[in-house]
Amino acid sequence: MRTDSRDEIRFLLGDEVVSVRDAAPTTTILTWLRETARRTGTKEGCAEGDCGACTVLVGRVEDGRVVSEPVNGCIRFLASIDGLQLETVEDLGGAHPVQRAMVEHHGSQCGFCTPGFVMSLVALKRDNEAPSEAEIDRALAGNLCRCTGYAPIIAAAQAAAPEPDRTQADEAILRKLRALDDGRSLSIRRDGARWDSPRSVDELAALLLEFPDARLVAGATDVGLWATTLTRELPHLIYIGAIDALRRVEPVDEHVEIGAGVTYADVEPTFDGLYPDFARLIRRIGGAQVRSVGTLAGNVANGSPIGDGSPALIALGATLVLRKGGERRTLPVEEFFVAYGAQQRWPGEFIEAIRVPLPRATTRFAAAKIGKRFDQDISSVCVALRFDLVEGAILEPRLAFGGMDGVPRRAARAEAALAGRSFSEAAFRAAMLALDQDFSPIDDHRASASYRKRVARNLLLKFYRELAGEAATRLEPDRYAHAVA
Ligand SMILES: Cc1cc2nc3c(=O)[nH]c(=O)nc-3n(C[C@H](O)[C@H](O)[C@H](O)COP(=O)(O)OP(=O)(O)OC[C@H]3O[C@@H](n4cnc5c(N)ncnc54)[C@H](O)[C@@H]3O)c2cc1C
Ligand code: FES
Ligand code: FES
Repeated sequence: MRTDSRDEIRFLLGDEVVSVRDAAPTTTILTWLRETARRTGTKEGCAEGDCGACTVLVGRVEDGRVVSEPVNGCIRFLASIDGLQLETVEDLGGAHPVQRAMVEHHGSQCGFCTPGFVMSLVALKRDNEAPSEAEIDRALAGNLCRCTGYAPIIAAAQAAAPEPDRTQADEAILRKLRALDDGRSLSIRRDGARWDSPRSVDELAALLLEFPDARLVAGATDVGLWATTLTRELPHLIYIGAIDALRRVEPVDEHVEIGAGVTYADVEPTFDGLYPDFARLIRRIGGAQVRSVGTLAGNVANGSPIGDGSPALIALGATLVLRKGGERRTLPVEEFFVAYGAQQRWPGEFIEAIRVPLPRATTRFAAAKIGKRFDQDISSVCVALRFDLVEGAILEPRLAFGGMDGVPRRAARAEAALAGRSFSEAAFRAAMLALDQDFSPIDDHRASASYRKRVARNLLLKFYRELAGEAATRLEPDRYAHAVA
């Protein structure tokens, strides 16, 4: 253990400081709650982030207040909440306005999903005292109920929203969280495994140089599943979420720079302003529990051909800032993906940030995702298109797809069919034809090859109609998947 680090995990459980010395690096919040703390209100359904039965709240100090985020306790490692607040259904005491509303509106039958729903609704309520039905829908997309049905739960959410919430205004929590932050890194070694939570980027760079085989963890929405569902050996985890400097979104020259620790929830408002279709895509990644911790950098780094972030980043011409020790290099996102399962990242190197070019007045951008379900589903096809519209002509088109090949990549022939043409349906129809030469997708359980090809073509036409303002109404919020297919 390094001299400036600590080997016990310290956090607030409700409003009590807890020190944990005996948890292994891959112990999840859920396992610790149920097996050690004996707080069995939090349930295990799927153990892979899909059902929300294990939803707990993790609170952190942000802009002088405590922000509570819903997370899936089943895939988040306990060590990652060092210095934070953990709240479970037990902390609500049974008479919380959300709990009362769930009873009054008959929002529970067998009750297995209920603690998870309650925690998601408490998080929503602290953020929004008058949520619309769409906002409630979005807050609950990561919670499944197989017996009650959702109407009573939505009614409970609406009834509870304006009621005062004691914890929300609790200054004492803020003071305790501030007192808990001793500025030290966490370094634990247990059961032959190791966990490090460095507090600075330099410390992270040095650690990764020393231990190039260690596995980085950000939101753990992929890595958590490797530990729980896939039972993979993870002998050394280095967590980047405790580094404040990596959680920044800031303009740098002609770009917006997104730190590797920035979560989907944190970056969504930035994209809402710059590229609204990118924000819409992000709102379709997992549920609120996944978006509150999952990162764009992690989405790129895991190299999946169906990660939803990569096509948009490639279309926008985004670059990665890669760092190894004290050296930095930049790499276009499209060059990061070498082949299925292979990325251009050297041992000891990590993604420090993603730079996304700011739009020019002439920039046009559109993106869409096709999945079998609207919420909580991985893409069958994901596509993004960016170009400049100058005096009626399409310039510098960049069209990128996920789900069409072993890596997310550009469609060179379709781009060529658009480049320099006047912005017209004819140009887009030519690109639709050319697209057939760009990809030979595979059949799998998500979609057949012919479906993928057809939907990819049709999405281009959709983009044309939307960008031309021809679509009578934008099919909000993106519930067009089956209509277009
Ligand atoms: C229920 C559920 C639903 C999901 N739905 C979607 C979806 O709809 N669309 C979608 O695209 N994804 C989805 N995902 C997958 C997941 O949310 C993303 O891939 C996520 O962005 C990964 O980010 P993370 O921060 O959680 O990464 P982690 O799980 O912490 O890490 C993922 C990988 O990236 C590496 N890594 C992390 N940070 C860095 C870094 N800075 N430098 C180098 N390597 C790094 C890790 O070592 C690991 O290999 C879902 C996951 C779950 C559990
Ligand atoms: S148990 Fe299903 S999301 Fe955690
Ligand atoms: S009340 Fe039974 S699963 Fe929701």
